[in-house]
Amino acid sequence: MDKMKIVSIVGARPQFVKMALVAEAAGAFRAVDFCIAHTGQHYDANMSDIFFRDLDIPSPKYNLNIGSGTHVETTGKMLQALERVLLKEAPDMVFVYGDTNSTLAGALAAVKMGIPLAHIEAGLRSFNRSMPEEINRLITDRVSDILFCPTKTAVHNLRREGITKGVFQVEDVMIEMLRKYSAIAGRRSRILGVLSQGPHEYYLATVHRACNTDDIARLKSLLKTFGLLKRPVIFPVHPRTTKAISANKIRVRPNVIMIDPVSYIDMLMLEKHACAILTDSGGMQKEAHFFHVPCVTLREETEWVETVSSGWNVLAGADEVKIRKALKHFSSPRRNVERRPARPALNHSLRSGSGQASPASRMIEIALKFLRSRR
Ligand code: UD1
Repeated sequence: MDKMKIVSIVGARPQFVKMALVAEAAGAFRAVDFCIAHTGQHYDANMSDIFFRDLDIPSPKYNLNIGSGTHVETTGKMLQALERVLLKEAPDMVFVYGDTNSTLAGALAAVKMGIPLAHIEAGLRSFNRSMPEEINRLITDRVSDILFCPTKTAVHNLRREGITKGVFQVEDVMIEMLRKYSAIAGRRSRILGVLSQGPHEYYLATVHRACNTDDIARLKSLLKTFGLLKRPVIFPVHPRTTKAISANKIRVRPNVIMIDPVSYIDMLMLEKHACAILTDSGGMQKEAHFFHVPCVTLREETEWVETVSSGWNVLAGADEVKIRKALKHFSSPRRNVERRPARPALNHSLRSGSGQASPASRMIEIALKFLRSRR
């Protein structure tokens, strides 16, 4: 039988993390020919290359070098460039990941060219259509043939939209990554020494969502709040956020330690040893939950509702009072007693290896079954 060709489309940091184990699993299937097309949405070395190197991801066969621009412009450029890749490769299936503009462009290119499409991390919803990611998710899920959902909530969200065909709940590949890399991070990362920080002595913060970087009042409020905290705040700053801070000359207090974006293993180390995490990233909410580190989400809503219902995550937006109240709540002695949930909320995702195939292998198996059923 001919090999089944899968083109995997990625472009932004979290997608490299989601793809790493899928690429590894695909390599173990003799029936699969897996190649990577990188849109170039993230292009700085510490936003892209470092992930390929540290996570042993095969080099992309294509790098489209699309770079920065408006959402419409970059998505349009990606679509055109991806059409050329897909014409050349003529794959049996396209894989897209998460909710970025690269996800949307990959999904549209595949569906318009009649190529079956699998969406990894399908069904997540914030129910806030002003987020570019929400639009990307809604459209990608609508046109996907296979939808890999990481949680029951995600399956339920799709059902409410009438999407039931091709839906599979498969353990979260990001959690599989955490299991694999948290010990590796402990051995390889030097970040705590470099920053002269001890475990549980600092807060870890990240801010990159458009709602926080493009609204200067919110960004100012966040930085002011970080500056009022009684401990150092390690703040790996996304390039978008760096630009907004310098363009608006926002004052940053000395306890806020601004550093360049860090590698995946350094980020895991920083997360694991933080006394709390303040973030607007989806992945970091899950990672905080995995490490049992309190998380304050700097948004009004989250796609990872399980982290909130378990008590490990509090939604505080960019409001100084709410953020400080959330941190106080986590540090109260009573709360410390409660900080050992009997059952982790993302229990499906957090279930330890039970002898079943890894989630990434399951995804490949499901994709192969789907393709064989069509031959
Ligand atoms: C994108 C995703 C977001 C994801 C995030 C992870 C969309 C709509 N958003 O947001 O869902 O959580 O990636 O980081 O796709 N820039 C650089 N160097 C880089 C990359 C970006 O300087 O390597 C700058 C550019 O000026 C760019 C800006 O950052 O315009 C924003 O980058 P972009 O990829 O558009 O969105 P992110 O904010 O990274």
